[in-house]
Amino acid sequence: MAILVTGAAGFIGSNFVHHWLAARPEERVVALDALTYAGNPANLADAERAPGYRFVKGDIADGDLIQRLLREESIDTIVHFAAESHVDRSIHGPAEFVQTNVVGTQVLLEAARSVWLAGSGQPHRFHHISTDEVYGSLAPDESAFSETTAYAPNSPYSASKAASDHLVRAWHHTYGLQVTTSNCSNNYGPYQFPEKLIPLVIVNILHGRELPIYGDGSNVRDWLHVADHCSGIEAVLRDGEVGGTYNIGGYGELTNLELVRTLCRVVDERFATDETLATRFPEAPAARGEAADSLMRFVTDRPGHDRRYAIDPQRITDELGWKPRFDVEQGLKDTVDWYLGNEGWWRSVMDGSYKEWLARQYG
Ligand code: NAD
Ligand code: TYD
Repeated sequence: MAILVTGAAGFIGSNFVHHWLAARPEERVVALDALTYAGNPANLADAERAPGYRFVKGDIADGDLIQRLLREESIDTIVHFAAESHVDRSIHGPAEFVQTNVVGTQVLLEAARSVWLAGSGQPHRFHHISTDEVYGSLAPDESAFSETTAYAPNSPYSASKAASDHLVRAWHHTYGLQVTTSNCSNNYGPYQFPEKLIPLVIVNILHGRELPIYGDGSNVRDWLHVADHCSGIEAVLRDGEVGGTYNIGGYGELTNLELVRTLCRVVDERFATDETLATRFPEAPAARGEAADSLMRFVTDRPGHDRRYAIDPQRITDELGWKPRFDVEQGLKDTVDWYLGNEGWWRSVMDGSYKEWLARQYG
């Protein structure tokens, strides 16, 4: 296989490139990324050692570039992660979400169609990465989202992802493009940009900054370790039904309050067993003999905040034999350890545009 990974320098894309190259170090992998604020080439530094790896800075909405890469690199598989991905940003600036997530996906599909379906065609696969947020919001007692749940997106982000899912479906039904789609729940793990809840909470504790909890903290998310997401994508690429969709979730439902309290406890435990942490992070509550949860603050709710997401991953388990390996408690401990061990990484990605955005958001 020669694979093109879009959005490869982002959180999940970079984890996927590492996952793929660990299993197939000799395979051709072209990593494409526009390097927006969320993309960081340092996430892919280790991949540079693989002989078949190449990084290309570019936009998925540049059809000529995509067609050239597909031809020049004899790409037969696209795994499409590139997107604007943060709900809060989509509320303040939806246009970029429509441009990248909708227009960008359409350009990518068209490039794939014109290269792969020309003449008698060639074996290929277009795998689209989507989200459970396209299904809208669940009541506390409702069953988890399945692949047949009706779409009901509520934020500009989820609406743009829903639109892209429909385009992928249409390019299969209308033109015969060989597509698969996976819709997953909230991911966490290494290399997640600290604007998303879990890394934001870890980094804020280490700085002694407040932990903003939207509304009353009772919103539920279904947490999936990024390594489990990557193995799920691999299973779909290997054996998934062409034209099919697969929900990927980690059986990790937690309220935001439960999640933040768990992170506070784990960070406090780490300070209790490792004396160097108080020297490295003197502003953290544990360095002053206080508990991290003293930083928790309830703040104004996100407009249109979905109450609950939950994924039923039965199809991918029954048909493809996939199961998550991480339980949330262990996954969160590993994630806290990763952020403690990679201070240089999060300090560097938080420079520049992120600081400007934080200042605009929170004053
Ligand atoms: P991310 O924001 O960390 O990374 C997105 C990457 O796409 C960045 O590297 C960015 O530079 C790149 N990018 C943005 N616009 C681009 C463009 N026009 N051309 C090329 N590259 C561009 O996002 P993520 O969390 O890694 O999410 C990856 C995918 O997974 C997205 O499609 C997202 O909708 C989906 N998803 C994410 C989650 C989650 O919890 N993070 C859950 C479900 C689905
Ligand atoms: P987030 O990580 O932004 O993912 P998503 O909105 O895609 O689910 O947020 C996860 C949950 O945490 C969501 O219910 C919003 C909430 N949240 C906060 O309470 N405070 C915060 O500072 C952030 C970023 C999110």
